[in-house]
Parts: sequence; structure tokens; C-alpha cells
Amino acid sequence: MEPTAQSFRGQSPSRKKIILDCDPGHDDAVALLLAHGNPDIELLAVTTVVGNQTLEKVTRNALAVGTIAGITGVPFAAGCGRPLVRSIETAPDIHGDSGMDGPALPESTIELDPRHAVDLIIETVMAHEPGTVTLVPTAGLTNIAMAARKEPRIVERVKEVVLMGGGYHVGNWSAVAEFNIIIDPEAAHIVFNEKWPVVMVGLDLTHQALATPEVVEKIAAIGTKPAKFVTELMDFFAHTYKDAQGFDSPPVHDPCAVAYVIDPTIVSTRKVPVNIELQGTLTLGMTVADFRAPAPADCHTSVAVDLDHERFWNLVTDALVAIGEPLGGEGGSTANAADAERRVPAHLTAGGVK
Ligand code: BDR
Ligand code: CA
Repeated sequence: MEPTAQSFRGQSPSRKKIILDCDPGHDDAVALLLAHGNPDIELLAVTTVVGNQTLEKVTRNALAVGTIAGITGVPFAAGCGRPLVRSIETAPDIHGDSGMDGPALPESTIELDPRHAVDLIIETVMAHEPGTVTLVPTAGLTNIAMAARKEPRIVERVKEVVLMGGGYHVGNWSAVAEFNIIIDPEAAHIVFNEKWPVVMVGLDLTHQALATPEVVEKIAAIGTKPAKFVTELMDFFAHTYKDAQGFDSPPVHDPCAVAYVIDPTIVSTRKVPVNIELQGTLTLGMTVADFRAPAPADCHTSVAVDLDHERFWNLVTDALVAIGEPLGGEGGSTANAADAERRVPAHLTAGGVK
């Protein structure tokens, strides 16, 4: 029998343990599918944070993606509903009003974990051997910063933080700043200044991860519902990226961070000090990389430089093949509002960062 994503579940010391902290989000959805479908990843938890849309919306989207992928036995928890200091800024012109416009979403079969995401992150890291858990944030860094402040011992316990965000030569939300960093620059400042290893998978790299027509054709040819879901996501993403930022094919940012964890040879990196601009009137949220060589011996940050486009997309298509058809004939109905409401834990509706 062909191995499926289901049969990959379970613990194994050789698999890379990750917590995915996300704001689905079209590309976050692909990151989650890649993490679930790849045999070398052990997905310990999925946590959500305000970003592409409100916390309620991105959490509902995360549960829907988990349902489409047939994820079981992995806790999903909602985290911070606003940035540390600033007002909420979402990205409807890229991700639509729902945060994941395009495909119809199934009714979720996954119950949201009642814990706050910050607590789930801390508990998960502390429950595993030091140096074994990688944090993969693909959204604003509010939850991760809060976790580091609430339980500072996670900083030396985490293996590394491999984040999608920033860019050393390019911005997308301003001339020099990227969305995940500029929506909560104070949180990013905390995360980049803690002494854990940080790999910044920024726009310099993710603008190479284009979902070209050939890529989308290959995904469509898989023929399963999760694969069709991805093609529908990419169809919407292609239109908004064309309209908002002039791309001929959309850059699929977030799975690049997961791909780096799976196989660092797919994403080349360079060690370089990076810090976050908090003062600049034109440069707020810029990830300032100091390329004056050599990097100091205690440099704990590196930036992603070059992507192997073909091997990256092969990882994504292989993951989709492995996931197969977990929904059987059940997928495709749209979750109703009452169902979405039932799943909202108290801290989601209380307002503000708990
Ligand atoms: C990042 O911003 C979000 O819109 C995407 O999901 C990605 O994480 C790209 O700038
Ligand atoms: Ca994201």
C-alpha cells in the first residue's frame, strides 16, 4: 500500500518537530499542507494569530485547512487578536474578506484547543527535549514574542526559529518593510533580539517561489480534493497579486519556511546580523541586514537567499500526493456562521491580547 500522510503520524526521533504559527492565508494553507504531508516533519501544534485577517477568521481558516488535509491528533489553538502596540492591520486586497477567499471551505471537524496559543507554544516546547522543537512562524510575530516573554526558558530550548517575514533588499507593505514584520514590529524586534537561532525566510527568497501556470497544472493533475483546493487558492492569489503588486504569477511565501526545515539544501542562507527598525518614519518594520563581512562570531541570525524552485514545488506536490483524499466524499460544503461561532474560545471574543 502507498504510504499516506495519515500513516506518517506518530513520533519518531528522526522527524523534525515543528510548531506552525500562522494566519491562513492562501500561502499559510500551503505551508500547513506541506508540513502535514511531508514524511520528515512532525507537526506538534498549529497556532493562529491576527494577520491576514482577524483572529476569528484566520482561526476558522486554519481549522478548515486541517479538515481538508485530514489532520488528527494535532492541537490547533488561537492566540493573540491584536499586535503588541499597534492597531490591527489586515490584508484583504491580497487574501480577500475571509482571509482565504476562493475555494468553498468545509465545515471543520477539528475542535479548537481551549488553550491560548502562547501557552500551547510554551507547553509544547517545554515538554520536548531541548534543541528538538523548531518554531515556524508564517505571520506577525505577536504569539512568538509573547511566548518568549512569558516563559524565557523557551529561548534556549527551541532548536531554531525559521520565520517567513522581512526582506533584506525588498519590501511589500512599504518600500522597505514586509507585511509580517510591519504589522507588529515590536514583536519582531523581540524575536530577532532573543539569542535563539533565527532564519529569516524573507521576500528576497519567497519572490522566487512563484506558482507558475506549469506548477498549478502539476498540482491540478494530482486530482484530489486537497490538490483542487490548492489550485483554487492559487487562482484567487494570482489575481490579487497581479492587481495589487503586478506579479505575473503569485509568490507563495509561507511554505518556503517549512521547505527550509525539511531540506535546508533547497534554500541557501547567509549568516548576517538583522535587526528591526522601530523608529523610522519611512522605514518602520524594515529588517536591516548588516552585510559588512565578516558576520560576528556570535551572530545568531541568517537570511534566505536562493530557492531551488523545482525541488521546492516537488516537495509541495509530493505532500499533496501523500495526503490523498482524506475527506472522502464529504468535502466542499461551506461552514455556517453558527458553527464558526460555536468554536470560538473565550479569549478570541474578549478583545485585545490576553
Ligand atoms: C506574508 O504576508 C502574508 O500576507 C502572507 O501570508 C505571508 O506570510 C508575505 O508578506
Ligand atoms: Ca502568512
